[in-house]
Amino acid sequence: MDPDASSWFRSMSSTFSFLFFGFTILFSIFALFLYVVRLRLWCSCEICRSYVTSSWRKDFANLCDWYTHLLRKSPTGTIHLHVLNNIITVNPENIEYMLKTNFENYPKGKPFSTVLGDLLGRGIFNIDGHPWKFQRKMASMELGSVSIRMFAFELITDDIRSRLIPLFSLIAGKEEVLDLQDVFRRFSFDNICKFSFGLDPGCLNLSQPMSKFATAFDTASKLSAERALVPTPVIWKLKRLLSIGSEKKLKEAISMVNELAYAIIEERKRTGFSTNKDLLSRFMASIDDHKYLRDIVISFLLAGRDTIASGLTSFFILLSQHPEVESVIRQEIDSVMTSTPCDDLASFEQMREMHYLNAAIHESLRLYPPVQFDSKFAQEDDVLPDGSFVKRGTRTTYHQYAMGRMDRIWGQDSHEFKPERWLKNGVFVPESLYNFTVFHAGFRVCLGKEMALVEMKSVAVAVVRRFSIRVADSKQVPRFSPGLTATVSGGLPVVIQEIKN
Ligand code: HEM
Ligand SMILES: *[C@@H]1O[C@H](CO)[C@@H](O)[C@H](O)[C@H]1NC(C)=O
Ligand SMILES: *[C@@H]1O[C@H](CO)[C@@H](O)[C@H](O)[C@H]1NC(C)=O
Repeated sequence: MDPDASSWFRSMSSTFSFLFFGFTILFSIFALFLYVVRLRLWCSCEICRSYVTSSWRKDFANLCDWYTHLLRKSPTGTIHLHVLNNIITVNPENIEYMLKTNFENYPKGKPFSTVLGDLLGRGIFNIDGHPWKFQRKMASMELGSVSIRMFAFELITDDIRSRLIPLFSLIAGKEEVLDLQDVFRRFSFDNICKFSFGLDPGCLNLSQPMSKFATAFDTASKLSAERALVPTPVIWKLKRLLSIGSEKKLKEAISMVNELAYAIIEERKRTGFSTNKDLLSRFMASIDDHKYLRDIVISFLLAGRDTIASGLTSFFILLSQHPEVESVIRQEIDSVMTSTPCDDLASFEQMREMHYLNAAIHESLRLYPPVQFDSKFAQEDDVLPDGSFVKRGTRTTYHQYAMGRMDRIWGQDSHEFKPERWLKNGVFVPESLYNFTVFHAGFRVCLGKEMALVEMKSVAVAVVRRFSIRVADSKQVPRFSPGLTATVSGGLPVVIQEIKN
């Protein structure tokens, strides 16, 4: 290249990079401007000021604890964060209205579906209207069948017997500290993958590296959820456009997930799916579109993985703090399973007889719901039953975590862990779904509720019967990391001991 041309080239490229970065900076300033406008940072009400300056952190460990405090004080059980254009409620009448009576006006909405859209596509979790109705009908038919319930139960008991118990036994002898949350995340991922895909990622084997699929799925769901944390979507959309930073990583993780998902779908197509019992094979009987099949199944992975792990983690935090509850559970297990050998697991029927265990699981979910809050976006102006005006486009949230701590719903002892509150004469009595919203309520109520409860109870019985688990730092108040499901930040180190009979 002659010298003139090369200097010309250099000057061109520096002009180009100048323009490029100039553009990026301008865009960022514009994004910041939009952020300020959208947030209405000048709102000076006490709640908004505390939010904007983060001064609530002085008194509360978690944002959800501060919201709980505000909602307890509010006479209607509803607050409005003007700077976020967000109404938050714990009022059961409002919730019934949003999730059933005027359901059509409170879809998940675009802000939610664009954040998770690249990962979830047109899966049930991420859609509204007719496509949702169609998938809901199909999925509830499949999940309601006796055969899939049997299949799920077999997978659960199998993983407990051959993976979870051996792992705990191994650790118990050694007085090692184990991250229980991590173990439950691996356990539930193995389980939900086998259930949805017929694929065994083998995550529970701690001596093996996490499978590629698990790692990619983890990264993809974490980075997708983090999109919702930036002040304005303009920022992540710009990063996606330029394919830089976290958006580049997200793109790579999603294509890894896709590659593996399509490989499984194609393999299944070749080898035949009619005798397989997993969800994918069942859906393949009526759907041919590979992308659509992938979308449907991925939603189930997201729905059924971290939720279960989170529910189990907080259950064992609470048991560790309440040995008296643990010993009642143990007595109940012993009385129901008198003639069952110690290394056998509880049957479906035996678990149905364990009312106290069922109460303890519900009580734990009440205080530490895996999904802490749930938002919809109002389509038109509306008025909630408590008189709150909802302007079109307002994010309308109901707060499961705060609801579990409302005296007006649970009585003066709402903050206490008391399984007895669920029992009448020793028999478990369910609470209305609009008071106990842990599994959502109304038309979009969780489709995996029964399966989730069976899974949590199975693990609880197997573990409590044989081991004593103690949280290493028993006074520790859980601090949650932000995300779609409640995750204890830093994990949950525990010490495990085997009980000698
Ligand atoms: C303790 C465990 C679980 C909890 C606390 C839980 C909670 C929830 C919540 C709050 C929703 C509503 C989300 C929304 O619409 O905004 C939901 C929906 C859903 N859940 Fe669960 N879930 C659990 C386990 C499961 C499992 C194991 C499965 C699958 C086998 C599952 C499948 C679903 C599906 C498919 C939906 C979407 C329903 C729809 O949009 O029509 N869930 N769940
Ligand atoms: C875990 O993987 C290692 C190495 O592949 C294998 O030797 C071991 O048996 C596995 N352990 C369990 C509990 O499956
Ligand atoms: C919800 O809880 C309140 C307060 O305990 C109770 O009065 C009400 O009947 C419950 N709602 C339903 C639908 O059961």
